[in-house]
Amino acid sequence: MALLITGGAGYIGSHTVVELLEAGQEVIVLDNLANSSRASLQRVAQITGREPQLIEGDVRDARLLDRLFAEHPVEAVVHFAGLKAVGESVRHPLDYYDNNVGGSLALCQAMARAGVRRLAFSSSATVYGAPADMPIPETCPIGIPTNPYGQSKRMVEDMLNDLVASDPRWSIALLRYFNPVGAHPSGLIGEDPDGIPNNLLPYITQVAVGRLERLAVFGDDYPTIDGTGVRDYIHVVDLARGHLAALGFLSTHPGIHAWNLGTGTGYSVLQIIEAFERASGRPVPYTIAPRRPGDVAQCWSDPAKAMRELGWRATLGLDRMMEDAWRWQSGNPAGYAEAD
Ligand code: NAD
Ligand code: WQD
Repeated sequence: MALLITGGAGYIGSHTVVELLEAGQEVIVLDNLANSSRASLQRVAQITGREPQLIEGDVRDARLLDRLFAEHPVEAVVHFAGLKAVGESVRHPLDYYDNNVGGSLALCQAMARAGVRRLAFSSSATVYGAPADMPIPETCPIGIPTNPYGQSKRMVEDMLNDLVASDPRWSIALLRYFNPVGAHPSGLIGEDPDGIPNNLLPYITQVAVGRLERLAVFGDDYPTIDGTGVRDYIHVVDLARGHLAALGFLSTHPGIHAWNLGTGTGYSVLQIIEAFERASGRPVPYTIAPRRPGDVAQCWSDPAKAMRELGWRATLGLDRMMEDAWRWQSGNPAGYAEAD
């Protein structure tokens, strides 16, 4: 039996494919390479000694999905494929609903036709909106996401809840990621954003490697430890392992299950800069800039449910996140571009 990994050539997908291959699983990747390249999977093969099969195509392509399920004995799907840039989602909302909601819909329909009913979905802490109390447990009511990207994740969660209510044979995981950072310790795979990064860590690593001049810290007047925004950064390898734990649980527990995948600890932007400078030995010049619209002051998880039910918890600390992010960026200053 095999696992279908949509979006498996991307940042989180490629790290999860490594963990799955190393656990002896058969893996098929479906990716349209809209935000990734074949190079990441070639690097996965270098790490694991096994080349995952890539089917280049779109998750919204119903005929392709039917053929894929007919030709391969898929027992479960991990659905990473989608668009993830918050600012772009505000400018092009229809693209986000089309890809993220339409893609998940087409996938579930094809799974239903094929009788494959086990799914792990990449959701996000963004579905909680801006809760008043920290940490955030899964029982926190779903909030009102402040952008179409977050809204698309919320809509898919709603759709999956309705699906399980209609047919209890499904087993579905809603994996709510906090802030994934870092890279595989080999330095061979990592985050490779297109254009100027939106997220903090890739921005910092690109400043450190000389691709960008200086970091803008968005706001220093939040009610936090030092006035800058606080987030729950989680090493991408820990996050990847959370998927294996969730898939194991789903095989014996039908129904729908939400889990936070975070560490339970928040760090401020200034704490991240300091930790990165320590790990890399490079200075990160920055200036204080106005708050970024839509940002919350703080956001960190209560990860106890995943620990209790999955036996999973994050084990790699802040220093490892920074060291591994730097090993990837310093070894691949232009990301995968040189490997293409
Ligand atoms: P990514 O862009 O690196 O990976 C997504 C992959 O999906 C890419 O390889 C892209 O080419 C592919 N893809 C996009 N649209 C597709 C389509 N229609 N058909 C087939 N393939 C398609 O992003 P990532 O950071 O690895 O994120 C993976 C998932 O996790 C996404 O669903 C994202 O929304 C979610 N998520 C990410 C974060 C984060 O901060 N990185 C946080 C929470 C949730
Ligand atoms: C982290 C902190 C910024 C960039 C986003 C999405 C969320 C999820 C993860 C997918 C904040 C500050 C950032 C910079 C800065 N994605 N910052 N200068 O905003 O927590 O979450 O990515 O689901 O949905 O919203 O992550 O890395 O952008 O920001 O000061 O150049 O760094 O203000 O406090 P965020 P981030």
